[in-house]
Amino acid sequence: MTTQIRDLDHYKELYRQSVESPEQFWDKEAKTFTWFKAYDEVCTWDFEKPAVKWFLNGKMNITYNCIDRHLADKADQVAILWEPNDPKDEAVRYTYQELHDEVCKCANGLKALGIEKGDRVVFYMPMVAELAIAVLACARIGAVHSVVFAGFSAQALADRVDDAKAKMIICSDFNKRGAKNIAVKEVVDQAMNIGCKSVETVLVHQNTGAEVTWNTEKDKWWHKEINHQSTICAPEEMDAEDMLFILYTSGSTGKPKGVVHTCGGYMVYTCFTFKNVFQYQPGDIYWCTADIGWITGHSYIVYGPLLAGATTLMFEGVPTFPDAGRFWEICEKHKVNQFYTAPTAIRALMACGDDIPNKYDLSSIKVLGSVGEPINEEAWHWYDKKIGKGNAPIVDTWWQTETGGIMITPLPGITDTKPTFASYPMPGIQAVLVNSEGQELKENNVEGLLCIKHPWPSILRTTYGDHERCRQVYFSPFKGMYFTGDGARRDEDGRIRVIGRVDDVINVSGHRMGTAEVENAINEHPQVIESAVVGYPHEIKGQGIYAYVISQGKALDDAFRKEISDVVRREIGPIAKPDKIQFVTGLPKTRSGKIMRRILRKIASNDAANLGDVSTLLNPDVVEELKKSALV
Ligand code: WTA
Repeated sequence: MTTQIRDLDHYKELYRQSVESPEQFWDKEAKTFTWFKAYDEVCTWDFEKPAVKWFLNGKMNITYNCIDRHLADKADQVAILWEPNDPKDEAVRYTYQELHDEVCKCANGLKALGIEKGDRVVFYMPMVAELAIAVLACARIGAVHSVVFAGFSAQALADRVDDAKAKMIICSDFNKRGAKNIAVKEVVDQAMNIGCKSVETVLVHQNTGAEVTWNTEKDKWWHKEINHQSTICAPEEMDAEDMLFILYTSGSTGKPKGVVHTCGGYMVYTCFTFKNVFQYQPGDIYWCTADIGWITGHSYIVYGPLLAGATTLMFEGVPTFPDAGRFWEICEKHKVNQFYTAPTAIRALMACGDDIPNKYDLSSIKVLGSVGEPINEEAWHWYDKKIGKGNAPIVDTWWQTETGGIMITPLPGITDTKPTFASYPMPGIQAVLVNSEGQELKENNVEGLLCIKHPWPSILRTTYGDHERCRQVYFSPFKGMYFTGDGARRDEDGRIRVIGRVDDVINVSGHRMGTAEVENAINEHPQVIESAVVGYPHEIKGQGIYAYVISQGKALDDAFRKEISDVVRREIGPIAKPDKIQFVTGLPKTRSGKIMRRILRKIASNDAANLGDVSTLLNPDVVEELKKSALV
């Protein structure tokens, strides 16, 4: 079994080993899994190219390790505990044996529909158990899954399907979210009209049973294709470095990029981190509230917990339906032991008052997790006191889509916690701070750019179809290091606090977004000449979206603002809609024509008093105008 860290000395010892001899360290962890054929080298790497390989020539299948491996002693233990959107409906439990059977049926169905090893399958589904089952079914037969968050627009979905050249889309008819039923199949139909020429089949899971339009050529019902299939499907023999999945995420420029993770390293790292960060014990009920459309759902709802033989709770609904007590009600009902959520949810629920969580028995909770964005001090204390009752350490976990698993975090009961600090690197993670010249800042009490020095097993391997972009974004800024895009500070005792992005990526309610992406969407409006988007501090969302827009021939009113928002909704999805739109006649630019975002950020953040010298701008006058009409 994967090593479980016992105490502080054990952590220190493992950390030391992992830095002194990373290969030996990860070899030992990797050997705890089932390999169809042993690997013959642990790791080769070259960050210049970049070319990173782990467990070379090892043959395995991640679903064998997630499921089959546990059947000898956990066949009847619950693997997935699915809680529906509506509390009036029954929870559904899949034991490891049942999960095995469902995954095999789905895998056989996918094969019968022509899906082969290496084919890409895009998902556009709500948080139904079938999503997890079908993701695992892809992995079982060696198909590459790419889950698209079901809140994205048809255009965003089509962009991702086209980039991945997917052969199949798996979706549901409707998506239940709170009191609403959202027509997801309809969005897929629209995406199919915009693009998606590579798609041969749309596999539709019947979730609500309400009527959908049907394309007899490509659409297939899940229940007709899957339900009658055999419950036996031999796992495909995968090379450790074969692709497991692509997950699209935003960067500072251009379209979202497809982050590629491979089978072997991702398996070893997600299991190791799951077991240690949550200190999972046999019999515990673990719940991560993320959506499987994001990396957190991949690594810590599906793969990490199942690899560790855990019971993972999967929730279909939203935190505020039927009321803002829903999360706590679920914790009480299922006696949740580890609860993992995002600061934006904590802040939103905190704003609903203490009476709500006080109504529930939360005494089962042993560990509280936070992920996705910096957690502010107030939210940290509320989480600690009102949810954990001071008895459940908070693990503020810092990591990224690109890192595959948790990188910097306290270990509950083992290392200390300090509000707003992600604290200490996991064993195997050589986190460093550098200055803008790339020199390592070795002392404590410093601020710098967060980089990682040595590869870890689940580091991204490439960005799909564009390896050069991967090199440029992550490996070219600082020689010999992976650059995270985040700024961080180290305190006097060596704990790390991640402050936030230093590039043009913003984090809105824990959703990563490129300002360029939002600008491109806004610019689609025919009356928009130019736009600039920045983030500003937002009480609940962490960051809000502030757009400066230059337009022509339109009344500058709320009706126009709504049109712009609608364009963004259409191009990306509702999560990218600007919170504030300021109409301007110009944008502050340098003499070489670059927008001075620093100034825009300060104005949007109500910090115009500290703009500094603007006299070198091409158009210094515009700054006064921006300040005067700022929406702050
Ligand atoms: C931010 C989510 C502060 C960070 C797993 C990172 C955090 C980006 C934390 C990745 C944290 C994530 N404290 N900031 N605990 N966790 N971030 O790819 O800016 O959706 O670069 O992965 O979220 O977001 P992503």
